[in-house]
Amino acid sequence: MSPSEKKQTYATVIEQVKALLADETDVIANMANVASLLHESFGFWWTGFYRVEGEQLVLGPFQGPLACTRIPYGRGVCGTSWQRRQTVVVPDVEQFPGHIACSSESRSEIVVPVFARNAVHADATSAADRQVVAVLDIDSRYLATFDDTDRCALELIAEILAISY
Ligand code: SME
Repeated sequence: MSPSEKKQTYATVIEQVKALLADETDVIANMANVASLLHESFGFWWTGFYRVEGEQLVLGPFQGPLACTRIPYGRGVCGTSWQRRQTVVVPDVEQFPGHIACSSESRSEIVVPVFARNAVHADATSAADRQVVAVLDIDSRYLATFDDTDRCALELIAEILAISY
């Protein structure tokens, strides 16, 4: 997919996500549809969510092959994104120390944190106060699949999804 096709596909997906989530408040249902939309639109190897439960991430809605169910805080790419509170882009999973290989087919990966922003957390005064409630994890069978276009679009999708929390 060319860079311009990628941008156009994300623009379409973001409009679909906004429309789908406008009428639904259940976060699991919304995660399921977001995972499906991204997976089908881009042909990723694995697309899904892990939700924060105590000191672990627990597998949530996803598309693709079986995955590990629990990831401790700070472990793997997912636990690192949670710990750093930042998107982590991994061009080559073999070069990321501690990468958790759920599938030997995965070659590159992006993990985007989802921050809470509902009324329960309305006292949050800045982004630094917002809790990470989940991560969006996407794996590709090809090296260096993910760039700033993916990062920006997926961070926006994570913000739209956060309304469900
Ligand atoms: N590779 C991830 C684990 C999750 S699977 O890719 C679905 C990680 O290192 O955190």
